[in-house]
Amino acid sequence: AFEDDSQTSRAPISQSTYYLLSNNTYYQESTMSSSPYHAELELAKSAALKAGEIIRKYSGNSGRSNNSAVVCVKSGVDLVTEADTHVERVVTQIIKAAFPEDDIVGEEDQVEFPKGRQDDPFPTGRICKLLIDSAYNFISIYPVDPIDGTTNFVHNYPFVAISIGFIVSTRQQREVELEHFSMVNQQELIVTPPTSVEDCLLVNNIGHCRRDDFIDESTDRVNKWLRANLRGYRSSGSAAQNLAHVASGQVSCYYEHGYGGPWDVCAGIVLVKEAGGVVWDARDGTDLQMRFGKGSVCAGGKRVVEDVLRVAGKPTTTFSKG
Ligand code: IPD
Repeated sequence: AFEDDSQTSRAPISQSTYYLLSNNTYYQESTMSSSPYHAELELAKSAALKAGEIIRKYSGNSGRSNNSAVVCVKSGVDLVTEADTHVERVVTQIIKAAFPEDDIVGEEDQVEFPKGRQDDPFPTGRICKLLIDSAYNFISIYPVDPIDGTTNFVHNYPFVAISIGFIVSTRQQREVELEHFSMVNQQELIVTPPTSVEDCLLVNNIGHCRRDDFIDESTDRVNKWLRANLRGYRSSGSAAQNLAHVASGQVSCYYEHGYGGPWDVCAGIVLVKEAGGVVWDARDGTDLQMRFGKGSVCAGGKRVVEDVLRVAGKPTTTFSKG
């Protein structure tokens, strides 16, 4: 979408660049000699490292996460702590200081000031309105989850992620680009080869919904996988971490009907696709299109995802609270 680099004021830099367009076409331009987004990547990395320092401070030397964090209940069993809002504020400040025009969609901020309604296509019209109203040809958007795995954090279960996604929405077609960088902690990514439920290590979060029909459907699904001889079942409490683990081949497949929102999955989608995997909507087996609010996801190597979905059957429950 960025054929004309003069549309951006950002310095081109030599590196491989990958794009995912909203119309589901995915391509790599390894020969591309310049990327206008290098500065954003570096900024996101330093913001994530700073966020990690803050989270560690709240955790203290004993590794206890909740020592100094105030815990609130957002809704039902969905928690938020002082650490979540602190980290989100700092990440937002870091990005805004460098790129004041860019838009940040932070998970916690959305509770009070939502930039869309559940199920609006993401980025929502409200976010892109800025684009239409302004003289800009594009808008850069960062979906941010300051602590993905807040319940883990509150319980001192030491698995949380900071998730910073990056999207460019252009004026022309409002196409969405996600820039891909194929490393987690500097290691190359590749999804593992399992092809069926029988050789699959599956990670499945059940999320925050406690409605009877949702619980019944979720537990029936686990039942079906186990009866189909699923090799291993895990539930980790962090969607972003699950996607990173799929991308690095540490788990075979991640399934969640009712993940929290685009801030949970935006960055992880890029990692899995770049590692050669698929990220599908678990309801219909199509490429996942992010929406504002909760969604349904199944990610991994194509063949194992097909088998996991075949055994699970179509989820039919909605994600509303209960
Ligand atoms: C949650 C975690 C959890 C998933 C939920 C998410 P949060 O994010 O990713 O694993 O089951 O759907 O909302 O609330 O810890 O940022």
